[in-house]
Amino acid sequence: MNIVITGANRGIGLEFVRQYLAVGDQVWACHRDDMGGLAQIDSGSLHTVCWDVTQELSSEIAAQLPDSIDILINNAGVYGSQQQLDQISADMMHKVFDVNCVAPVRVVQALSQRVAVAKGRIANLSSKMGSSADNGSGGCYGYRAAKAALVICSKSMAIDLQPQGIQVVTLHPGWVMTDMTSNNGLIDTQTSVSGMRKVIDDIDDYELGAFVDFNGQLIPF
Ligand SMILES: NC(=O)c1ccc[n+]([C@@H]2O[C@H](COP(=O)([O-])OP(=O)(O)OC[C@H]3O[C@@H](n4cnc5c(N)ncnc54)[C@H](OP(=O)(O)O)[C@@H]3O)[C@@H](O)[C@H]2O)c1
Repeated sequence: MNIVITGANRGIGLEFVRQYLAVGDQVWACHRDDMGGLAQIDSGSLHTVCWDVTQELSSEIAAQLPDSIDILINNAGVYGSQQQLDQISADMMHKVFDVNCVAPVRVVQALSQRVAVAKGRIANLSSKMGSSADNGSGGCYGYRAAKAALVICSKSMAIDLQPQGIQVVTLHPGWVMTDMTSNNGLIDTQTSVSGMRKVIDDIDDYELGAFVDFNGQLIPF
């Protein structure tokens, strides 16, 4: 299969790269300036592509990506800072929103026709923090808002792309030990990613545009 992953140089994205390579897939790993852990992977099935997803897909980058995509994973994300009610700035909200919500829409606009060629799948990495039902602690305005907006955009994608044979799922990776969490968390990237890969494989078992965690549990939103 042909797999395209954004934000693939570290954390959860890098683990998606490792696991899909391990089962023999061709992986296009998108990263910003820093190759990070991708530089240590020696595989003819790995194709690295420099793409900051806040930028439109240029013709040069488009030419490096496959014409047929079986799985597209919108993984790139930022947490942001200074997000309590008395601190949050419009600039911070816009920045966090651009990476976490606008970028996945931008990526899907640019690549959905290639996913349609394979009748493939799109996985958008949101967060339980974007679930209104799960918000018991408040705060975190930029990240919560952006991930909630991604949930609804992802649902719309699921509806809009169904006629082209594309399936879309929204994922919560769990609380995962990565740079984003300063290595705090309940699970490691291996556990998170193997769980999310199973959800992507089992996408037929879920309702259209479902929001699902790494354990396969539906998340209310
Ligand atoms: N870790 C958790 O507990 C957790 C929980 C819920 C949801 N998530 C979501 O899961 C995804 C991965 O998180 P993570 O924990 O692996 O985070 P991470 O370790 O901070 O990695 C974030 C990745 O996103 C990339 N990225 C950020 N802005 C980008 C841009 N403009 N263009 C391209 N790539 C960009 C980063 O690249 P650079 O190295 O260039 O910055 C990095 O590869 C995110 O969407 C996050 O919100 C994580």
